[in-house]
Order: sequence, then C-alpha cells, then structure tokens
Amino acid sequence: MNKKTLRDIEVRNKRVIVRCDFNVPMDGEGNITDDKRIVASIPTIRYLVDHGARVILMSHLGRPKGKVDPKYSMVPVGRRLGELLGREVIVAKDVIGEDARLKSGQMKPGELMLLENVRFHKEETDNDPSFAKELASMAEVFVNDAFGTAHRAHASTEGIAKFLPAVAGFLIEKELEMLGGALEKPDRPFTAVLGGSKVSDKIDVISSLLDKVDNLLIGGGMMFTFLKARGLETGKSIVEDDKVPLAGELMEKAAQRGVKLVLPVDTVVAEAFQNDARHYSVPVERIPRDYMGLDIGEKTRDIFRSIISESKTVVWNGPMGVFEMPNFASGTLEVAKAMAECKGKSIVGGGDSAAAVEQLGFADRMTHVSTGGGASLEFLEGKELPGITVLMDK
Ligand code: 3PG
Repeated sequence: MNKKTLRDIEVRNKRVIVRCDFNVPMDGEGNITDDKRIVASIPTIRYLVDHGARVILMSHLGRPKGKVDPKYSMVPVGRRLGELLGREVIVAKDVIGEDARLKSGQMKPGELMLLENVRFHKEETDNDPSFAKELASMAEVFVNDAFGTAHRAHASTEGIAKFLPAVAGFLIEKELEMLGGALEKPDRPFTAVLGGSKVSDKIDVISSLLDKVDNLLIGGGMMFTFLKARGLETGKSIVEDDKVPLAGELMEKAAQRGVKLVLPVDTVVAEAFQNDARHYSVPVERIPRDYMGLDIGEKTRDIFRSIISESKTVVWNGPMGVFEMPNFASGTLEVAKAMAECKGKSIVGGGDSAAAVEQLGFADRMTHVSTGGGASLEFLEGKELPGITVLMDK
C-alpha cells in the first residue's frame, strides 16, 4: 500500500481522532446483532491505547439524515466496544458540541472517547469544510480505519484529512492488502463468483473483473438477465429487460478475452417468492412460464464447486439465490463451503455475501471477509475510494 499508516507516525501523548465504521445492524431494541465491524476495529484502537495516544473515535450509525435521533445513538456501540476492550469507553453526548469538547479536554494518554453519531449533523454527508475543521480541531492526527465508508467523501472520512496529518489504520491496510492483492497479483487460476439480484448493480464490477480473472461464475437473480440474452425462457424470474443487450455484450467480451464466463445450467424454480412455495430443480432451458428461479440448481453447484476448488484465488460477491429462505439457500451454502475448502485464497467481498458466510458459519474459514459492502464493490470495480485517496502517501 502506498499510503502512510499508523506505524509511520508518532502518536504518544497525541490526540488522535479515528474514523471507524461502526455502522452495525441493530434489532430495533438497541441490541447489536452483528459486531463484526466493531471487532475489526480493535487492532487499531488497541495499538493507539498501548502507544499512549488520547483516542477520539467517531463513526456514523444508520442514516439519521442530519438530525439527532436517539434510535441511532452510538451508546450501544460504546458499550460493546468497552466489553471487547475490557476498558472504559466514554461516550460523548454530542459530536462537536460542549460535551465532546469538555470530555476530550480532560482525556489522559491511553483513554478512549467515542463521539456521538457524526450523521446527526447534515454537514457530515455534505462534506462541509467548517464541520470537518471542527472535528479536526479536537485532535493532532487523523486515522481513517473506516474501510466500509471509504467510498463516501464525507466530512469525517475525507474532509477532515485536509486539516490534519492523515494516515490509514490497520483495518484499511488489511482490506487493501487482501482485496488489492487479489486484483493486482492473483495466484492463478483466478475465479470471481458474482451473484445478487441485479445486473445493473454489478455491470462495472463484471467489466472490471473481465480484464483480470480466468473464470467468472454468475449466479443469483442476475443470471436470468444473462439467460434471457442467450434467448432462453426465464418465466417469472427477475429480469432487467433493458440490460439484456448489455449482458450479451459482456458474454461476448468474456469470449474475446478468453475468460470462461460460466452461467448456471440448472435452477431451483418456485411458484411464488416464498420459502414454502412449491419448488423443484429444472435445466435452464426448461424454466416454466409461471415459475421463478430462486437459486442455482444442483448440477450448477457441482460445476461451481469444481472450478472453485481448482482455483488459487477466488473472490466472491453476491449470494447465489434467496439465501434468507432455507429452501433457496443451498447454492449460496455450497459456494461458501467450496470457498472454505479451497486451498487457494478465498476472499468474500462484503455486503450480502459476507452476511451469508457469517450466517452459514463459514466466515472463520475464509482468507478474508471484507467489512465493506458498497466500499468493497467500488474497490472491485476499480474505482478510487475518496477516504483512502486523501491519506498521506508513503
Ligand atoms: C455501509 O454499511 O455500507 C457503510 O457503513 C456505509 O453506509 P452508507 O451506505 O449509509 O453510507
């Protein structure tokens, strides 16, 4: 990575403001249902505490739209962080207000404070320079460790870096090493597995990966747009009609580049979008008009499994079917299993696929599960992430 990290600067006795991505799912009663992002932030926080910095943490939680909304308070995050670290985490009652300033003024080396939700101010998402300056004025160094929010040019991710020496934390460093390493210097064969419901969400990532991979396996709802482009009947399956020509072009492009683009040969079709709907597996050439495909079929799972097992690098983004419904989770489960068993590097690109491997119990067996949803997708698309671009070069 060509960006400076925590290791490149002196933090002892300094006030260090750290942007984390503590945007974790909650159950509506203030309980965190998945603390993976908090856990992933620990190495940076521990390093700073151990090196005698005064640590001010900040993050957004949800989308409170620039207004104070107790539903999105950082208090539960502070509590969980304190439990994980085994030490007190002071939570300020505001972001740049009196309480945050008073408490930050009283901090001693090795102490931790978490600001309230930065999105309680509209200026955050507007990337307002005065707001960024106010945040910066509480510290002497800025560390960005919010990989999951690095694709947003907001005041706490990008704007603030213009007022302070700005470096990357260990999570950002690890994400870039894993995702960047896979894209730049993959051990081959290099396979990408892409799913999710819409081709339109994945066009850029497919185009970008076609220049890099040896195999591209396509599942999820978007497979039907590709099958339609091959002239097949897709029944009531989800199809983006306006993207059918594009799917055809992507298949042509793959052929020209010698990339093996693999589409499902069978699919599990159902009478309705319900777990208990009547369902069975059919070859893709025989999808009934009044049925919809909700998962990849068994033969496809075998084909995908064998390609994955022979790969030295596999990157996966997007579920293979409606994995939230047990009857349509097998495709996603089998891909997760194949990746866990694969001897090469297995990298899961955040969002729904990360949630799926977590839910299915395979997360620990992957080389890397990204904490970024939109951010890892944009990274795979080859886009610049503003929260990283703005950091100091090595
Ligand atoms: C995410 O969950 O993808 C990040 O925390 C960014 O959140 P946002 O999409 O609300 O900007």
